[in-house]
Amino acid sequence: MNWNKLIRQLHRWLAIAFTVTVIVTFVALAQEDPMIWVSYVPLLPLALLLFSGLYLFLLPYLPRWRAARRK
Ligand code: HEM
Repeated sequence: MNWNKLIRQLHRWLAIAFTVTVIVTFVALAQEDPMIWVSYVPLLPLALLLFSGLYLFLLPYLPRWRAARRK
């Protein structure tokens, strides 16, 4: 498996992890005595989603930039 596929798979599974943490946050904040710290948990997968997502965004442009530099 090459890097691009690996990052795409990672981004896909991080999306699931992020969704789960958001649902957990909803439940935690709905309690009578809400656990506020839980609402910070989704920030970790979200940060990883940002970096892997930016990498995925750049993928289609990288070959063009490399080709342009070679000319
Ligand atoms: C935080 C900033 C994020 C950025 C910059 C970002 C960027 C991207 C990019 C560029 C792609 C590839 C699109 C393509 O096929 O060319 C992608 C795919 C995807 N993103 Fe994100 N994303 C972000 C966050 C999220 C979040 C929050 C979720 C869902 C909870 C998510 C779920 C997905 C999924 C499921 C795919 C398809 C992956 C695949 O092809 O298997 N992303 N994202």
